[in-house]
Amino acid sequence: MTRGTAQLPVLNVIGAGKVGMTLARLLRDAGQVTLGSLFSRDIDNARSAVQFAGDGEAVDEFDNLRPADLWLLSVPDGAIATAASRLAGTPFPWRDRRVFHCSGLHSSALLEPLARQGALVASLHPAHSFANPGASLTDFASTLCTVEGAATLCGRLTDLFEALGAKVIAINPESKALYHCANTVASNYLVSLMATSLELLQAADIGESDGRAILAPLVRQTLDNIFNFGPEAALTGPIARADVNTVKAHLDALSTSDAHLQATLYRMLGRITVTIANRATPERADDRLAIENLFREQR
Ligand SMILES: NC(=O)c1ccc[n+]([C@@H]2O[C@H](COP(=O)([O-])OP(=O)(O)OC[C@H]3O[C@@H](n4cnc5c(N)ncnc54)[C@H](OP(=O)(O)O)[C@@H]3O)[C@@H](O)[C@H]2O)c1
Repeated sequence: MTRGTAQLPVLNVIGAGKVGMTLARLLRDAGQVTLGSLFSRDIDNARSAVQFAGDGEAVDEFDNLRPADLWLLSVPDGAIATAASRLAGTPFPWRDRRVFHCSGLHSSALLEPLARQGALVASLHPAHSFANPGASLTDFASTLCTVEGAATLCGRLTDLFEALGAKVIAINPESKALYHCANTVASNYLVSLMATSLELLQAADIGESDGRAILAPLVRQTLDNIFNFGPEAALTGPIARADVNTVKAHLDALSTSDAHLQATLYRMLGRITVTIANRATPERADDRLAIENLFREQR
């Protein structure tokens, strides 16, 4: 049975940027909420968000916010605490209202001023890049989200996001910094690794376009192997084979070019790679001692 619009909770979004407008649209399209106020400090940004979300009212003053059942604070991380304090200073009755933010780093403790007034507070972080909100509308389903905070609200958010096709798991608020660090290493450092590899290919006189053609299938295949079979099974190459001569040739090549940072990166990740290789084939750990010594050398 389709629920009538009148029974749906009203969602207000404070900070109607990439995450705010995308989640507003997805939750509305899924028939989970009706949209109330979409707030940005710049009214043009708020209007763009309303246009993208397909409903709601553009607002650029806290005094003009409508009452709502559910509040998403999708301002930048550094502005969440201030936004929560400002909302707590409005005349809205906060008892039993539901308020959440989407920071991967911070917990629901940032929403304490609202919790003190009886609001149920939580943080829900989608492990998803909202860089292109249009693409997120189709890509969001199957995103994994972590949630912590008031149990009733965590349950409600789990229902809402599962209705979008997402999977929701609980996280310990004290683990959020490590959790967010892990996401950053995987997503942002992968970019840095690919950029480093492209630069080394250019130093070897291979242009950017050919460099991408070399890396794209190699990296995609490696990612598939990691996620299908695990890091130990996915590892190939000189460290897996305990081939000290090849590793030495790489370090020599890096020492003759202007690549001090890249050489440091090669040695640091090499040490981690040795531990993965030793987990995969512990019987060859002694053969890798010479490689470990190369990585420890200061050049
Ligand atoms: N982007 C992602 O891929 C992603 C993924 C997961 C979680 N998150 C989290 O989602 C939240 C929002 O990120 P986002 O990428 O959507 O940010 P964003 O695109 O920069 O949007 C931020 C919104 O907040 C408003 N805003 C900026 N500074 C403000 C302030 N000081 N006070 C009030 N409003 C302010 C902005 O509009 P005005 O400048 O007009 O005020 C804009 O509407 C963050 O907690 C972030 O960690 C982001």
